[in-house]
Amino acid sequence: MKQIIIQYGGTGDLFRKKLIPAYINLLKKGHDFHLIALGRRYTEASQFMNEIIPTISEQFQNHVSYLHYDMKDPQSVIDLTQEINDRLGDECETELIYYIALQPSLYELAIKQIHDVNEGVRCSISKKIVVEKPFGFNSESAKIYNGILTSVFSDEEIYRVDHYLGKEFMQNLLIMRFHNDIIRGIWNNRFIDNIQIIFDETLGVEQRLGFYEKIGVVRDTVQNHILQIITHLTMAEPSEFSPEEISHEKIRVLKAIRPIKDFSLSRYETLSKLQGDEVRTSTYTALKFYVDTFEFAGVPIYVRTGKMQNEARSQIYVNFRNTMDRVLGDQQIAANSVIITTNPEMTIDITLNMKRPNSKWKAEPVRFNFNHADTFNVNTPEAYEQIVEKILEGDKSLFPSFEEIEEAWRIVTPTLSGNVVETYPDHTRPKTADDLIESDGRSWNA
Ligand SMILES: NC(=O)c1ccc[n+]([C@@H]2O[C@H](COP(=O)([O-])OP(=O)(O)OC[C@H]3O[C@@H](n4cnc5c(N)ncnc54)[C@H](OP(=O)(O)O)[C@@H]3O)[C@@H](O)[C@H]2O)c1
Repeated sequence: MKQIIIQYGGTGDLFRKKLIPAYINLLKKGHDFHLIALGRRYTEASQFMNEIIPTISEQFQNHVSYLHYDMKDPQSVIDLTQEINDRLGDECETELIYYIALQPSLYELAIKQIHDVNEGVRCSISKKIVVEKPFGFNSESAKIYNGILTSVFSDEEIYRVDHYLGKEFMQNLLIMRFHNDIIRGIWNNRFIDNIQIIFDETLGVEQRLGFYEKIGVVRDTVQNHILQIITHLTMAEPSEFSPEEISHEKIRVLKAIRPIKDFSLSRYETLSKLQGDEVRTSTYTALKFYVDTFEFAGVPIYVRTGKMQNEARSQIYVNFRNTMDRVLGDQQIAANSVIITTNPEMTIDITLNMKRPNSKWKAEPVRFNFNHADTFNVNTPEAYEQIVEKILEGDKSLFPSFEEIEEAWRIVTPTLSGNVVETYPDHTRPKTADDLIESDGRSWNA
């Protein structure tokens, strides 16, 4: 069946940086679709082609067109309906995929317009809708969006994107946990002392300020990516690796997470200075979660994430209890850890204590390392390529359900009305992030 993707936000950052490379690779892999990019900033298609579409792929150039589309102008809906009908011709064996990559404040209007466009399409054809994260601003708006969405599309036709689910390391977490008996036996609160999730970026808000200002760090990453990581780290084994069973186990975890009590929000210094006192948004957060399931109750999960840090770091530390401390009386023996790194490379390290050479029974922690690229020697597709491919194929295994999203909003609700309590110098870690973990007598692994 022919597929037409209608790209809202077809001039935006996401489209340019992530979606264009994904579309190019998918065409190379043999997928066949036409893309209609919608945007305001170019009135002429030629401007769009010159400025946005890379000349490296002639194939992609032949599969993309541009339509000037201002959501505030009702004529845009008429123009888009006309454009789709012209492309369809007599061919009703076509699927329309509406992809909304806009700031969340525009979702509601976009969905209403899509409804109107769809009513005007000449034949009744198969359709899908794709919505980017964050899905809403809070619990209430997420429910409203979902109500509007489900009044036009069936749940089967709705793809809610959290591109972390398209990342190889997320899928690998489930294989590592559930396909290794030595891991299965110890992955619980009897053996794990604490978990640390550290996602630091060196970049600031840059040209995304308009978008970011209304969102802040919790809505941008914690409500979606971080909570999905936590579900993958702590969920019980699904009865099968089907989208329904995985989602069922994820929902069990999310329902068991208490609304966040311990957290801090901060903002990097030059953002405040640059914009005067107008910018109130948070760019860094540290939080503590508890998953109150039989397997994980009592294990604190510390998270720190945000912008303008000294070093880009995407790491998860699973720290095991130390029952060997002072076994030999004269030395501290390090606890074991599993360290999952996703950036710059995907690696998994397990630290084990080994005898230091030329010593009398002195132990030293040594890292046993798995490097994904070296081991499998394959070019792993980028997350968005996997996400878009699943959408084209109608496979819902990499998309959170609305129930997951709803629970995630419930968990982060206390942070949404929180104030920024610290302004940190650029490229330094906020002090409040250290306070959060040190008040429990622990420190960050990195
Ligand atoms: N950027 C990323 O790396 C990234 C990663 C993951 C998820 N996302 C998600 O993707 C979505 C879009 O983010 P983004 O970074 O691409 O935002 P962005 O760069 O600010 O782009 C926003 C897009 O919305 C269009 N737009 C704004 N007002 C419009 C109107 N009245 N009528 C028609 N079009 C309008 C803009 O068109 P004009 O500029 O032509 O006016 C532009 O194409 C967000 O939900 C975000 O969370 C982004």
